[in-house]
Amino acid sequence: MNDTDLSKLQIPEHVAIIMDGNGRWAKKRGLPRTFGHKEGCKTVEQTVEDAARLGIRYLTVYAFSTENWKRSEEEVGALMQLFRYYMVRLLDVATKNNVRVKMIGDRRRFPEDIRKGIEKLEDQTAEATGLTFVIAVNYGGRDELRRAALAFAQDVKDGKREADEASFTEADLAGYLDTSFMPDPDLLIRTSGELRLSNFLLWQCAYSEIVVTDVLWPDFNRDVLIDAIAQFNQRSRRYGGV
Ligand code: IPE
Ligand code: IPE
Ligand code: MG
Repeated sequence: MNDTDLSKLQIPEHVAIIMDGNGRWAKKRGLPRTFGHKEGCKTVEQTVEDAARLGIRYLTVYAFSTENWKRSEEEVGALMQLFRYYMVRLLDVATKNNVRVKMIGDRRRFPEDIRKGIEKLEDQTAEATGLTFVIAVNYGGRDELRRAALAFAQDVKDGKREADEASFTEADLAGYLDTSFMPDPDLLIRTSGELRLSNFLLWQCAYSEIVVTDVLWPDFNRDVLIDAIAQFNQRSRRYGGV
């Protein structure tokens, strides 16, 4: 797509991506799964730059689910090492591109140094005014709702809120979610062909437009992103109306 065509597209404000297919990418090449994850991290960096340049305001990526702990110790360990390495690189990429970084998910389960790294990344990019890049780590939509329920119950106990029909709206509930600082995704992309949500942004994707591509995450690029945005532009969003 040339730049004239691109200028005719409405750019979604919030794009969320289920980055899937790293393992299959590696398998196809006779490599261990962790090679796919490494290649996938490079794709993340490139996608952050592409999204920032396209004028997307929020980009959320699913990096590690609450269910991904089920994988082998070797694979989970390799993913933790990649987080460590890429958090440092990401600070650089974010600073250069005026990107604010945020993490969603329950970070309490991560080792201390990773938690510190996350805080540093968030603090040092907090003033950026361009793209907000959100990484979902140890994130599960059901776990997020569970934690929100606990936080609400605590506020009721503390006398800060009332648990009655009139004073607790959907917006109030959304305020307890990890994503309270941003709008819901307009466009949800899943790579590698799987037609499921895998516990990602269950509440927030109520009216997101879904695009599934067969491209494996390490092969994702600007053209695939623009193609998904073009498909988004063909959709008629009705939100239950006519
Ligand atoms: C996505 O790729 C990355 C993570 C879930 C961490 P996968 O590792 O799920 O790759 P496939 O689905 O096995 O190909
Ligand atoms: C979803 O991919 C989680 C992430 C992309 C982090 P999975 O590979 O874990 O999902 P399933 O198991 O195919 O549903
Ligand atoms: Mg997968």
